Amino acid sequence: MKEINIGQATAITSPDPLMLVCTKKEDGSLNMAPVSFFMYASFNPPMLAFAMRPTANSSVNIKRTGKAVLAAPGTSLKDAVMAYGSSNGGDKNKLEENPIALQNMDGTDIEFPEDSRIAFAVSLEQAIEVGDHNMFICRIDKMVADDSKEALFAWDGYAKVAPAQEK
Ligand SMILES: Cc1cc2nc3c(=O)[nH]c(=O)nc-3n(C[C@H](O)[C@H](O)[C@H](O)COP(=O)(O)O)c2cc1C
Repeated sequence: MKEINIGQATAITSPDPLMLVCTKKEDGSLNMAPVSFFMYASFNPPMLAFAMRPTANSSVNIKRTGKAVLAAPGTSLKDAVMAYGSSNGGDKNKLEENPIALQNMDGTDIEFPEDSRIAFAVSLEQAIEVGDHNMFICRIDKMVADDSKEALFAWDGYAKVAPAQEK
């Protein structure tokens, strides 16, 4: 085997999970950003974790509100995911610039994409500094799914999003 760096590792482990982190900004508007640093963290109670840079607007929002919806985006959202992943929601309204169809889940006022395979409404339990990221450990309050939808995954060190198996 040859020694590699972390960027190469993320390309070699791909396809990696992909979630759109949906949060509310201070003015009440919706923000979304793609995240690949995602994992389940507990069965009982159901919990998950994800990691984002502290400067991301999503990090600022979940720390302020304690709430988010994480949704696995469907294949129709390929371009929107890349657009949402290339700008900070603190500087602009990404949903106005790149509008997508949204849906609601009972129990949360955070909307998420209509084209989602699964979505988790979460409450923040702990935010931990982990190197250059913050790790958000969250309780899953509710989960909904439509497994007829095909989800996108992150490929090639997050350079590209595509289904896990290309047809
Ligand atoms: C496929 C993909 C995966 C990404 N995964 C992460 C991640 O796991 N953690 C992170 O901090 N940023 C990740 N990013 C970058 C953020 O989405 C990007 O910094 C975004 O602009 C943050 O938006 P926000 O400031 O509105 O929260 C990813 C981007 C893409 C395109």
